[in-house]
This record gives sequence, structure tokens and C-alpha cells, in this order.
Amino acid sequence: MAQTQPTRDPRLFIHNLVKRDPLTGLAEDVRKGLTAYPKRFLPKYFYDQLGSQLFEAICLLPEYYLTRAENEILERYADEIAAAVDGDKTLVEMGSGSASKTRLIIEALLRSQSELMFMPVDISATALESSSRILLQSYPRLRIEAFAADYFAGLAELGKKSRRRTLALFLGSNISNFDADEAHRFLHAMRSVLKEGDALLLGADLKKDPAMLEAAYNDALGVTSAFNLNVLARINRELGGTFDLHAFRHRAFYNEGVGRIEIYIESVLNQRVRIENLDLEVQFEKGELIHTENSYKYDMAGIARLATATGFACSRSWFDSQERFSSNLLLAA
Ligand SMILES: C[S@@+](CC[C@H](N)C(=O)[O-])C[C@H]1O[C@@H](n2cnc3c(N)ncnc32)[C@H](O)[C@@H]1O
Repeated sequence: MAQTQPTRDPRLFIHNLVKRDPLTGLAEDVRKGLTAYPKRFLPKYFYDQLGSQLFEAICLLPEYYLTRAENEILERYADEIAAAVDGDKTLVEMGSGSASKTRLIIEALLRSQSELMFMPVDISATALESSSRILLQSYPRLRIEAFAADYFAGLAELGKKSRRRTLALFLGSNISNFDADEAHRFLHAMRSVLKEGDALLLGADLKKDPAMLEAAYNDALGVTSAFNLNVLARINRELGGTFDLHAFRHRAFYNEGVGRIEIYIESVLNQRVRIENLDLEVQFEKGELIHTENSYKYDMAGIARLATATGFACSRSWFDSQERFSSNLLLAA
């Protein structure tokens, strides 16, 4: 059961599904990941309060073209996107974060309907609450019912809610974190909460020159490195870990064979780390890697195949002027 957080603003409801026992999932997954071979963490654990802020900083980096490219598409085509789904709509968003690009879609929808219900889902309760409050200040005709939850738990809750015709958003190439099976599972779950005629706008980063891809995940300022290593700092803060952040480093490279950026944390020496709350000691060899994230890069055929296999039809795609990024309207078929 979700906990519904009363807020002082009658236009805002927040269902907090991560509040009940926020550390259980993290503790279990960290234990699993550090006792697996090779070692790994799940990307959703990047996004504590500091991690969410570091991601916002990444979006401003000159090397991280993804946000600017998607923003360019939405600035140019938001009205077309809004009009591609009939009637007055409810707006849903998975992994909404700061929802800054969402504003362009909200504004387009509010140009053609008198009021709007926005239903964002994000694992980061702090990002969700602050972005919701900022949006409500900007748009008096907006109401928000938000879900602090993992994607799948959020979709299960959304499935119980009656909605108008729905336009759902999955922006920022969040889909890139999933391998093929997970992407199918996610889109199937998304499709099952949409009715025929509803649509999903899927932002997907495209395959391109590996040098440009690798630069995007290895910025000169080291913000992506801080974002990656913050997982270790989070384990220190929340689980009593003893990671020495100077004894680990960020690694990111393009694996052309599988078409994905792979992100790791590398141990720079032989060392043991204790995690007090898990009563766990972990040995790291010099050069050993912890896999923290993948970012799969798409081509248009791959997007169309994924859509068809999960009950959608890819009806239209829009691109930025340099064709680095795609926004794809998948109609619930
Ligand atoms: C790469 S950021 C993108 C944020 C925003 N959509 C954008 O395009 O700038 C990923 C967002 O998804 C959220 N997120 C990551 N994994 C999640 C999960 N498993 N369930 C729910 N939200 C998740 C994060 O908290 C973060 O806000």
C-alpha cells in the first residue's frame, strides 16, 4: 500500500512507496551486487538527493549533448506531439527527475485544454517533491498526483487510477539503462496501463561516433565521475560503509559490439571494505570493476522492433538538428 502524503497544496498529492522502508531494497541489492561476480550496482541507486542534483549538473555539461538535443526537439515540436494524441489528456511521466523538459509538453497541453493532471513517477522522493512544487507555482491550471516509486511499482499504482486519454513520457533516454529483456518488460508494463489510443513519447539516444559518446560520459570537469562514485558515498552514509573514495575511480567506454556505453567503478588497489549494517567485508583486487550502469544506444529499426514487440506502433519520430537524439511517439495499438 502506498502512503499518501498530505501536502498543504490541494493541487498536490504524493504517494510515497519508497518511504515505508527506504533502506531495505538498497541493503539487499548492495549485498547481492557486492557478493556477485562480477560485482555490480543497480543504476536506480544513483539517485539519492545528492545524486539527483549531480545528474542536473551533468545535464549542463558541454559534453552531455543528450539533454540539449532532446530539449531542442521538444521546443520545436511540443505542439505537434501534443496534437498527435486526440482530445484532452492526462500527462504521465516515468523517471521525471527535475521535469524541466516536461515543462515544454505541459505548456503545449495547456494551450489546448483548460486544465491538466500530471502524474509523475520517480524513485527520488526529493526530486519528485521539489519538481512538483516548482511546476505548481508556474502553472495554476495544473494538478499533480505523484508517485515516489520504482518504475514497476509506480506503473502498478497508475494502473489502478482512472485517467483521461493519456500521453506518457519516458524522456532523457532512461530506456538506455535497460538491456533488451528489461526494455521489453518495461514497455509491456507501460502498455498494460495504457488504453488503445493512448501514447508514449520515448526519448532514445542514437548510435553515433564513439568519440562523441565516450566524451559524454567522461566529462573534463569530473561531474559524471562524482555522480558514479556517489553510489559508494551513499553506501557509506546509509549503510555504514567504509569505502575510501580516493581508492576507486570512474571508468566509462563504448562497447561497439553491443552498442552501449558501459560504466564502472574501478578499485585502484587491493583493498578490503567493511559495510557495517550488512555485517559484510568485501575484497577488491587492484583493477577490479563494479558495473554501475549501461547506456544502450539505439537505431530507428531497433526502436520500431521494440515498439511492435510490446504492443505499440511507432507512429512518428522527431530528431534534433544534428540527428543525435530521437523522440518517438509510440501509439498503444
Ligand atoms: C537520467 S535521469 C532523467 C531525468 C529526466 N527524465 C530527464 O530527462 O532529464 C533518470 C531519472 O529516473 C529516475 N529513476 C532511475 N531509475 C528509476 C527507477 N528504477 N524507478 C523510478 N525512477 C527511476 C531517477 O531518479 C531520475 O530522476
